[in-house]
Amino acid sequence: MIGQGHSVAPKRLCHVAEIPDGTARGFSFGSGLDRREIFIFRRGETLYGYDNACPHQGTPLNFLPDRFLTEEDDAFLCTTHGAQFTIETGFCTLGPCRGKRLTKIELRVEDGTIFWVGA
Ligand code: FES
Repeated sequence: MIGQGHSVAPKRLCHVAEIPDGTARGFSFGSGLDRREIFIFRRGETLYGYDNACPHQGTPLNFLPDRFLTEEDDAFLCTTHGAQFTIETGFCTLGPCRGKRLTKIELRVEDGTIFWVGA
């Protein structure tokens, strides 16, 4: 999924096969004020990548590792106050930040390996 924003030095994340179809995986980089968290959701051959920061309060969406989906697996869920986001767009459809969006990140796949290449 192509995001909009500036490029960053490409970071190798994992192999596509390490994210089973229909699941998500979180990654974090840096520490302190430089800490950055992202997550990727895979549906078939399509990858959706976002900053792991809720537009409501900026906190990570998940409490448990790699758990980003609702029970129905049909939207992303912020476990802090229950906001829900469309998988394809990151648009918030329910909760205190309704109308706002998760920030997309830009990914690239080379020989099955996923790289984070943009903000
Ligand atoms: S921090 Fe996500 S809904 Fe409040």
